Amino acid sequence: MPFNFSGKKMLVTGAGKGIGRGVAIALSQSGCKVYAVSRTKSALDTLVEEYPSIVPIEADLCNWDDTRVIIEKLEALDGLVNNAGIGGHDYTALECPRDYLCKLLDNNLLSAINCSQVVAKKMIEAKVKGSIVNVSSIGGLASFSNALPYHVSKAGLDMATKQLALELGPHGIRVNSVNPALVTTPMTQAYIENAGESVFIERCPMGRIIDVHEVVDPILYLLSNHSSMVTGQTHVVDGGILSNITVKI
Ligand SMILES: NC(=O)c1ccc[n+]([C@@H]2O[C@H](COP(=O)([O-])OP(=O)(O)OC[C@H]3O[C@@H](n4cnc5c(N)ncnc54)[C@H](OP(=O)(O)O)[C@@H]3O)[C@@H](O)[C@H]2O)c1
Repeated sequence: MPFNFSGKKMLVTGAGKGIGRGVAIALSQSGCKVYAVSRTKSALDTLVEEYPSIVPIEADLCNWDDTRVIIEKLEALDGLVNNAGIGGHDYTALECPRDYLCKLLDNNLLSAINCSQVVAKKMIEAKVKGSIVNVSSIGGLASFSNALPYHVSKAGLDMATKQLALELGPHGIRVNSVNPALVTTPMTQAYIENAGESVFIERCPMGRIIDVHEVVDPILYLLSNHSSMVTGQTHVVDGGILSNITVKI
């Protein structure tokens, strides 16, 4: 889908790999000035080698205060994509330890709230009618075994989306979630190699897992003026998985 983001400035978190990298590249190719935040320097280095106009920012978003200092130095932005996140399905709900729960919430929920606070305040000051997109998951809307912290973090992110949409709407700032099912990325590589995707394919009317560009396009739509009255939504990208009880007829 062709988008024109010429003159726009946006921040993408978790831009070193996977979906975030895809968003950063697509925005840059559409004329946007992109600030790309990620934890691992080598991934940012290769991104900037390929797309020299992208501005790399090496940071661990779990560091609340350091993150605020870094983002506060940026100019007022038109868009923010809270994409950084980690997976995790290592414990049953009854065995999950506190540290693990906190790690998932820090990475997947609190980091997004923190970035949204700083970016949105600057948008309001500069009277920018911006857009924030949170990369959530169908895991925010339905459960999967041994993944209580991941699901709680994404359900929390979806609620943060609605809350921020309510409070930022009067300033012309929109906030939405994109909720994908299984996407082929470095995060899911090992899982897919062990045939974990079969359970998703069985439930999926479209009969396959998702390519990165199929999540990137809806994110770009929500960042763009094409979605100018869409806010507070969870935009599911799942090939129909959540729409059915079973596709076997
Ligand atoms: N792939 C899927 O099937 C799927 C499905 C639904 C939702 N999602 C969501 O989509 C988002 C992106 O997933 P992905 O599959 O593209 O993951 P990925 O391939 O693992 O890429 C995630 C990127 O985010 C960065 N990151 C993670 N935590 C960070 C932190 N605390 N500070 C800074 N950067 C951080 C990672 O940095 P490092 O390089 O240092 O690890 C990496 O560059 C996540 O929020 C995930 O929950 C993914």
